[in-house]
Amino acid sequence: MSAQPDRPARPDVTEPPLTLSGIRKTFGRLVALDDVSLEIPRGRTTVLLGPSGSGKSTLLRSINYLEHPEAGVIDFGEADGNGRFALDRPLSAKQVRALRSRSTMVFQQFNLFPHLTALANVTLAPIEALGQSRSAAQERGRELLEKVGLGAKTDAYPDRLSGGQQQRVAIARALAMDPDVLLFDEPTSALDPELAAEVVAVLADLATEDRTLVVVTHSLAFARRVADKVVFLEDGKIGLDGSSDDFFESTDPRLRRFREVVSSV
Ligand SMILES: Nc1ncnc2c1ncn2[C@@H]1O[C@H](COP(=O)(O)OP(=O)(O)OP(=O)(O)O)[C@@H](O)[C@H]1O
Ligand SMILES: [Mg+2]
Repeated sequence: MSAQPDRPARPDVTEPPLTLSGIRKTFGRLVALDDVSLEIPRGRTTVLLGPSGSGKSTLLRSINYLEHPEAGVIDFGEADGNGRFALDRPLSAKQVRALRSRSTMVFQQFNLFPHLTALANVTLAPIEALGQSRSAAQERGRELLEKVGLGAKTDAYPDRLSGGQQQRVAIARALAMDPDVLLFDEPTSALDPELAAEVVAVLADLATEDRTLVVVTHSLAFARRVADKVVFLEDGKIGLDGSSDDFFESTDPRLRRFREVVSSV
């Protein structure tokens, strides 16, 4: 694991990783994911990088079964084997619920319910899907909104919040599900730079906690700040699977070129 100067050393996490094996996803004749296998370490931040169209979103969405791969296994590494999902046949509704209970996705476009306040957006799924009492869900929801810097906005509706504030509500909403794995698909790319900075600060804070995060981003600065592990995708295949330093210091011409092109936009 790369030691980064601004990140405190953390104890080793002994829980088994989330393992993806042989994931294949096609769209017609296009092979979006071609036999992708990788381990996502627990309690760490894994960043997915790669050119546009390389399969980053498809891979992230596959972990949440928003895409349905045709082959492969997703294994959350639980001792009783319940967290193992073979994808060569479509998952049943029950399996989909079981798989989705283990990960929560934060989207580029926030996807908040416009008719609900910030707090109601955060508490809806814990009440409806996890069966929490309203009062317990609201207490936790207030704590989480406080955590993302929105303690004063609990009663605000999304149209009264900036994009960065909306995305922070979406992050609080994901945290309220207390998932094993949090998935972020370009969480800041729809935001102006100063609003993106607020969201990056929240994510950088989450990355110092022992949470399992998987983040797709085009921002190398952000990747460098939060990544324990970097996976570089290229044409639906893994081009690099290593530490942050392995990626940023690689002299591989393809990676150098990618770093140069991305840094210049
Ligand atoms: N629903 C779909 N139908 C058809 N093709 C799709 C679909 N979703 C993705 N693809 C194709 O699969 C490939 C991988 O797409 P994906 O969205 O995973 O790329 P990405 O790495 O996330 O790109 P970006 O950085 O632009 O978001 C691309 O060629 C894309 O056009
Ligand atoms: Mg994408």
